[in-house]
Formats: sequence, C-alpha cells, structure tokens
Amino acid sequence: MLVSVFHLFILCVTEISAISMTIINATTGEQVLFPVPIHCGAQYEVTFLSKSIIIAKLVSWGMKTFHKHTLYENRLQRHTNDSLVLQNVQINDTKLYEIQIECYNTVVMPMKETVFDLQVFEPVSKPSMTIYCSITSVNLSCSVSKGTNVTLYWEEQSLSGTIHRIYDGAKLVINYGHEQDQYKYKCVAQNPVSNATSDLQILEMCNGDISKALIVIAYICYKVIICDKRGRINN
Ligand SMILES: *[C@@H]1O[C@H](CO)[C@@H](O)[C@H](O)[C@H]1NC(C)=O
Ligand SMILES: *[C@@H]1O[C@H](CO)[C@@H](O)[C@H](O)[C@H]1NC(C)=O
Ligand SMILES: *[C@@H]1O[C@H](CO)[C@@H](O)[C@H](O)[C@H]1NC(C)=O
Ligand SMILES: *[C@@H]1O[C@H](CO)[C@@H](O)[C@H](O)[C@H]1NC(C)=O
Ligand SMILES: *[C@@H]1O[C@H](CO)[C@@H](O)[C@H](O)[C@H]1NC(C)=O
Ligand SMILES: *[C@@H]1O[C@H](CO)[C@@H](O)[C@H](O)[C@H]1NC(C)=O
Repeated sequence: MLVSVFHLFILCVTEISAISMTIINATTGEQVLFPVPIHCGAQYEVTFLSKSIIIAKLVSWGMKTFHKHTLYENRLQRHTNDSLVLQNVQINDTKLYEIQIECYNTVVMPMKETVFDLQVFEPVSKPSMTIYCSITSVNLSCSVSKGTNVTLYWEEQSLSGTIHRIYDGAKLVINYGHEQDQYKYKCVAQNPVSNATSDLQILEMCNGDISKALIVIAYICYKVIICDKRGRINN
C-alpha cells in the first residue's frame, strides 16, 4: 500500500516538472515566437492551445501535417524547426497559451507542456504637462494620449544637472518655499514595452502670478493695518 502511494507521488512530480512558465511582453504589431523544443524522434504531435481552444496542431508521422484554427489562419506561421510565430499581435492576444509536445517513441515519455503568459501593450506616447499656478502651490498634471498599463512619475532636475525621481502619480503639487526656481521638472510615462518623457519645465511662468498675488496680499495687509490704526485712533 505504502509503496503504491509512493509510486503515485513520483508520477505526479514528474508530470508537474514537465510544465514550465514563460512571460512574454510584446508591443502591438510585433510578431511573437513560441519556441517548440522537440525532444522526440521523428514521430510526435505538437498542440498549440489557449483556454482549451486548439489554435494549431502539428503532427509528425513520417511526414508532417499542420492544421490551424481559422481565426489564426493568416497570422500563425511555422518555422522549419517547428517553432510557432504569431504575427501582428494585438491587445486582445493577451492570454495564456500552451504548447504540448507528445512523443510517439517506443519508450513512453511524459507529455512536455509549456505555458506562455503573453502580455501585449500599446507603447506610450510623449506625455504632456499642464501647469496650474495658485497662491500657495504649483500643481503639475501629466497625461498621455496613447499607451496601455501606463505608470507616470516625476523627475526633478537641479541646476547642477542631478536628476531625482520625486513622485509617482499623475499630479504633482509643489509648495512654495521649496526653492522651486532651483529645479526643472519633467514627467515620465512607462509601461513594460516603452517609456517616454515630457519636455523639461521651469516653473518661472508662475512667478508672474505669484508676484501679483503677493502685491494684492501686501495691499490688503496695508489697508487692514491702516484701518485698524485709524479705528484705534478714532476710538
Ligand atoms: C527555431 O528557429 C527560430 C528562427 O530561426 C529561432 O529563433 C528559434 O530559437 C528556434 N527554436 C528552437 C526551439 O530551436
Ligand atoms: C482582436 O481585435 C481586433 C481589432 O483590434 C479584431 O480584428 C480581432 O478580431 C480580435 N480578435 C479576437 C480573437 O477577438
Ligand atoms: C492644487 O492641488 C491641491 C492639492 O491636491 C488642491 O487642493 C488645489 O485645489 C489645486 N489647485 C489648482 C489650482 O489646481
Ligand atoms: C493591464 O491593464 C489591464 C486592464 O486595465 C489589466 O487587466 C492587466 O492586468 C494589466 N496588466 C498588467 C501587466 O499590469
Ligand atoms: C515583463 O514586464 C514586467 C513588468 O514590467 C517585468 O517585471 C518582467 O520582467 C517583463 N518580462 C520580460 C520577460 O521581459
Ligand atoms: C526607456 O527606454 C529605453 C529604450 O527605449 C531604455 O534603454 C531605458 O532603460 C528605459 N528607461 C526606463 C526607466 O525604463
């Protein structure tokens, strides 16, 4: 009894070890190669599938036959070494794919299975930056018109040229008093297949508004103090 359980365990382990997992990051429009490492003699069967739908089947039995699902008729090609190439990949090709290789040798061999996690991304476009000046802060906002799974972050460049990644996210708020005149700012957009950077911005354009604001504040203070004094004198 114990022996047979042990035997079963060994069988399970060998079957699982035949599965390997590969992540492929691809750009829309690219072609993707799915390697098919044939480890058999001349007689074998290769099945290419996704979510149990068979995309293609290659059978080698003296001569080779290759059948494709109609959806993939024009986009799937086979190399002479049996590796498969999917052309012009799109976002909706993002899926798990499986390649199963079965050998028909005299010796029984376990089926070899490889899982591919294909993730297709549209590359990011150059980000654009919008600046909002207010009395207490400068708000910078970053956006891209193209790209999937985009992450945005900000970099600050000092006068000496050193660059620091300062904030992750689309909106950056810089409070005055941060010596913002000493720095230039840019926004970086990236995804697993690309990255792009906005133009460097100096925040000088806000200074005009700020000086105006300061004049108004100074004027209000002046009025308040004068009125206050007058009030007190009158009393
Ligand atoms: C099959 O051929 C292609 C193109 O020459 C190559 O990129 C790929 O690595 C080969 N695959 C294997 C499993 O040898
Ligand atoms: C994927 O999207 C394209 C359009 O971008 C469409 O032509 C194609 O039929 C879709 N494929 C599947 C499998 O849904
Ligand atoms: C700037 O951002 C702060 C904090 O998010 C917000 O309270 C303020 O209204 C924003 N100002 C402008 C002009 O967008
Ligand atoms: C990309 O975005 C899609 C849709 O928002 C999401 O389902 C997917 O998990 C994301 N992929 C990665 C690698 O973040
Ligand atoms: C695919 O992209 C993810 C997220 O950026 C990364 O962690 C992973 O290493 C990439 N894989 C490959 C094979 O390039
Ligand atoms: C941005 O993309 C370039 C290639 O286009 C690459 O050399 C660089 O490492 C990428 N930078 C980041 C931060 O991902």
